[in-house]
Amino acid sequence: MALQVFTATTGAAWESELVGALDRADHGVVVVRRFVDLADLLAAAGTGTGQAVLLSAELRRLDGDAVARLVAAGVAVVGLVEPGDDAAADRLRLLGVGRVLPADTDAAGIAAALRAAVAGPAATAGGHDVADPRAALPALGVPDDPAARPASRGRVVAVWGPTGAPGRTTVAVGLADEAARLGVATLLLDADVYGGVVAQVLGLLDESPGIAAAARQATAGTLDVPRLARLAWAVSPQLRVLTGLARADRWPELRPAAVGTVLEQARGLTALTVVDCAFCVEEDEELSFDTAAPRRNGVTTTVLEQADTVLCVSGADPVALQRTIRALGQLRDVLPGVEPVVVVNQLRRGPVPGDPEQEIGAALTRFTGARVAGFLPADRRGTDTALAAGRTLAEVADRSPLRLALRSLAAELAGVPAPGRPRRRR
Ligand SMILES: Nc1ncnc2c1ncn2[C@@H]1O[C@H](COP(=O)(O)OP(=O)(O)O)[C@@H](O)[C@H]1O
Ligand SMILES: [Mg+2]
Repeated sequence: MALQVFTATTGAAWESELVGALDRADHGVVVVRRFVDLADLLAAAGTGTGQAVLLSAELRRLDGDAVARLVAAGVAVVGLVEPGDDAAADRLRLLGVGRVLPADTDAAGIAAALRAAVAGPAATAGGHDVADPRAALPALGVPDDPAARPASRGRVVAVWGPTGAPGRTTVAVGLADEAARLGVATLLLDADVYGGVVAQVLGLLDESPGIAAAARQATAGTLDVPRLARLAWAVSPQLRVLTGLARADRWPELRPAAVGTVLEQARGLTALTVVDCAFCVEEDEELSFDTAAPRRNGVTTTVLEQADTVLCVSGADPVALQRTIRALGQLRDVLPGVEPVVVVNQLRRGPVPGDPEQEIGAALTRFTGARVAGFLPADRRGTDTALAAGRTLAEVADRSPLRLALRSLAAELAGVPAPGRPRRRR
């Protein structure tokens, strides 16, 4: 059956010729509607009459949000740019268009790209076609600016967990700080849509632009590595922080697709990105029919989907363990492809009979099948001292048992040798 395609290329000189060629020849593509206006295109996307859209970089008001809405509505997006207009191609890719072609590509080539876009890995919230980002661009000669696209992409570790304050922020801040101290360039990103506290925990000013500003730039298609670097506080030479939403009620500003793009750029900025996530992954069900409505938990699911490692931080008492088991079940329903590893935090003798490590590890494996990556001891003195000072554990309690455990875990996650214990001070 022929692929039903929308076009939104009006204004470009080559438009009518191209649409004619697509329609005439037997490429297995039929142009069902042509659009001049983005709003009309978005309205039609929800009707299921088009499986893909061919749009030009000149389409007015096109932004990352619109691309995400098209993809969410099941309309694959292929971009066309004037031959040689690398800036326009880059802009489309920043907006989340995975396949971009020069407009002088012949009709057969464009039809093939449309079919590949429909068949290929659905563009994720970040929008980039990770499997084949540039194969569709032979004629463009994409510039490979090493500052913008480093050879090795950084890793993303999402720190997530159930409700009940198991210690996600403590673990995220601790891991980022320790990785940086081990010499690994690290970005700590506060993506908690229920109210970010990383800035406060680290004693940073509230007014820092943070993730909301980065997401705005991502939606506008202007976020790149240098701009992300400017938005992130350099807390130390190796540690940058992108602060969170100062007010929880501003969560609609954080669109999932935009946060996906922020993560993409973060991979170009630092070797390691640690993301402090909100707990919830439940679908906002009453909204799911409306692809245009903002979804609060969409940011969390986007981060978990894109992360290389998902850490599920669990408490170490029976109530907390029950919450972890439930949250992991929910995560499996919503994101079956994600395999989290559990970090048991606040480990102590008392709430669980017997050897807590053994008992908790066995229970989690039995009920969730998830791997337990490590145990972090309860250390109220250490965490209180750090919170009171607005500093990290390493700064105020360098021999705290929690700090030492975080450092080992950070070394493991960052793939660097674990350091020995610090010498006892005289
Ligand atoms: N290992 C630990 N030992 C003692 N207190 C901890 C530990 N981990 C976290 N806490 C404390 O528990 C509280 C909640 O931690 P937080 O990291 O903010 O949780 P979440 O981000 O999951 O809501 C904070 O007061 C924090 O200092
Ligand atoms: Mg938190």
